[in-house]
Amino acid sequence: MKRQHPIFSPVAIIGTLLLLIGLVLGLYTTGGQAFSPGELSAGGTIGQNLNGYASHASFGEDCRQCHAPFQGIEASRCENCHVTIGEQRLAGLGLHGRLLTADCAACHSEHQGPEFRSAALALEQFSANDHARLFPLTGTHVQLECESCHINEQYLGTPGDCVGCHDEPDLHRGLLGTDCAGCHTTDGWRPAELTGHEFKLDHGDEGQIACATCHTITFNEFTCAECHSAEEIDDEHDDLNITPSELADCAGCHPTGTEDEAERIMGER
Ligand code: HEC
Ligand code: HEC
Ligand code: HEC
Ligand code: HEC
Ligand code: HEC
Ligand code: HEC
Ligand code: HEC
Ligand code: HEC
Ligand code: HEC
Repeated sequence: MKRQHPIFSPVAIIGTLLLLIGLVLGLYTTGGQAFSPGELSAGGTIGQNLNGYASHASFGEDCRQCHAPFQGIEASRCENCHVTIGEQRLAGLGLHGRLLTADCAACHSEHQGPEFRSAALALEQFSANDHARLFPLTGTHVQLECESCHINEQYLGTPGDCVGCHDEPDLHRGLLGTDCAGCHTTDGWRPAELTGHEFKLDHGDEGQIACATCHTITFNEFTCAECHSAEEIDDEHDDLNITPSELADCAGCHPTGTEDEAERIMGER
């Protein structure tokens, strides 16, 4: 009996072809990466099953969940499970919503073994510059532990307004409003600086005038009568031809209390 050539036999040729097709298919379906560079993380701090999986390791063989064939990591694949991240990106919320890149792998590594926690590493690498894009840490805030603002390691949804973290003190008697940054910086509560106060507190020539001299009852109202007598006021405005009720709006013509501005303002009317 004639023995078949061991390499060019039909069986061997078909077998080799099948192997080749299998390899190509395999390469294709695994995103061109036939070999995983390492085991996937087997846990997480989110504390939830996502699409029925407990961790990345529980679907680790299915490379396509994260890798697009021949293209590497694709955000939309991650967001099939991490729906909330996709929502934040759509709504422009928080860190993920204000990212300059959709390249998840720029911050989130993988294949570092079952104990690896991707979010913890990303947080470690989260710099002061990154933080400043969301909320600059200035003044006394620089010294604070992360934990003092991010209680229980909750990062998303931290309030950014001063009043979100600081109650108006009793001293203010509820009269100063909640735009704290109009009078305070993060350097310290004292001294307060009225950055939004147009009327100069040291107008005239007697130095700084105490708040209560003009604001005798609330900060919504003021009086100038303590120093500018009704007689003086009448004299100064005699020739202006305005009614007493118009005259009462001192700040309308004297917004800062400096000389000659009133004439200019009246001229513009
Ligand atoms: C098939 C669903 C699925 C896909 C796809 C997926 N993940 Fe996850 N991911 C999970 C699950 C499940 C957890 C663990 C949940 C937990 O923490 O309890 C997790 C956890 C995480 C964590 C938190 C880990 C930690 O340190 O607490 C990060 C970050 C993360 N995934 C990023 C990604 C990125 C980036 C991609 C795309 C490359 C991705 N995931 C794709 C299901 C998925
Ligand atoms: C949970 C999502 C996820 C799954 C599932 C996953 N990978 Fe990855 N893989 C990643 C991430 C994220 C990176 C980028 C890691 C980095 O840059 O540190 C990566 C990187 C790689 C790399 C390095 C080259 C590159 O693209 O950056 C290879 C190769 C790779 N993965 C192969 C595989 C294979 C093979 C499988 C399936 C057996 C697989 N991966 C499953 C998330 C995943
Ligand atoms: C004085 C308070 C304060 C301190 C201290 C602080 N942060 Fe923040 N952090 C914020 C505020 C406010 C935001 C903005 C939240 C937003 O706009 O979505 C924020 C946002 C973040 C985010 C983005 C969360 C997300 O998913 O959108 C991360 C991450 C973060 N901070 C990490 C840190 C780390 C790490 C430290 C310590 C090195 C720290 N922060 C210290 C107030 C603070
Ligand atoms: C600029 C770096 C950066 C990029 C890019 C980035 N992340 Fe994150 N990610 C972080 C940091 C820092 C944390 C931890 C702080 C936190 O939870 O907000 C985090 C936490 C997470 C978590 C766990 C917390 C949670 O809310 O579920 C998931 C899941 C996640 N990222 C997925 C993604 C996906 C998906 C992408 C790509 C669309 C992505 N990340 C891109 C930095 C980044
Ligand atoms: C219109 C200006 C103004 C606004 C708005 C304002 N403050 Fe003040 N605040 C002051 C002045 C004036 C003082 C007294 C400063 C001094 O005595 O040197 C003060 C003092 C304080 C003090 C020190 C109290 C003490 O007993 O030592 C705290 C704390 C404070 N403000 C918190 C806030 C917070 C929180 C907000 C926003 C909810 C706020 N302030 C809004 C003007 C303002
Ligand atoms: C995310 C929370 C958060 C936000 C937003 C925030 N702070 Fe703070 N701030 C803190 C914490 C926590 C401390 C330290 C504990 C304390 O003194 O209340 C602090 C401390 C301070 C101090 C020092 C107090 C002292 O007695 O030394 C000042 C001043 C201050 N903040 C001003 C501001 C101003 C002004 C804003 C708005 C521009 C602001 N903070 C926004 C959390 C916040
Ligand atoms: C504590 C006393 C005091 C109070 C209160 C006061 N002023 Fe004066 N003001 C002065 C003195 C002193 C001068 C300088 C001498 C002068 O022209 O009478 C002055 C000057 C002025 C001038 C002229 C500007 C200049 O530089 O010569 C105007 C305008 C003025 N005040 C408006 C007001 C208005 C409006 C109020 C109320 C919102 C007010 N003042 C409250 C003491 C006061
Ligand atoms: C010389 C008089 C004068 C003094 C002193 C003065 N203010 Fe005023 N303040 C005014 C005038 C005038 C206005 C009204 C400006 C306007 O209506 O455009 C005003 C407005 C305000 C407002 C805004 C009220 C509102 O309705 O929004 C606040 C808050 C305030 N002052 C706080 C203070 C504090 C705190 C001090 C002491 C540090 C102070 N003022 C000292 C004259 C004064
Ligand atoms: C309709 C505009 C108008 C109103 C309202 C008004 N003033 Fe005048 N005031 C003037 C003009 C114009 C002058 C002339 C000199 C100038 O330009 O300051 C003047 C002059 C003054 C002077 C003298 C300035 C100097 O250079 O010596 C004082 C003080 C003064 N006003 C206070 C007040 C007070 C207090 C009130 C509120 C009761 C008030 N004014 C309301 C327009 C006004």
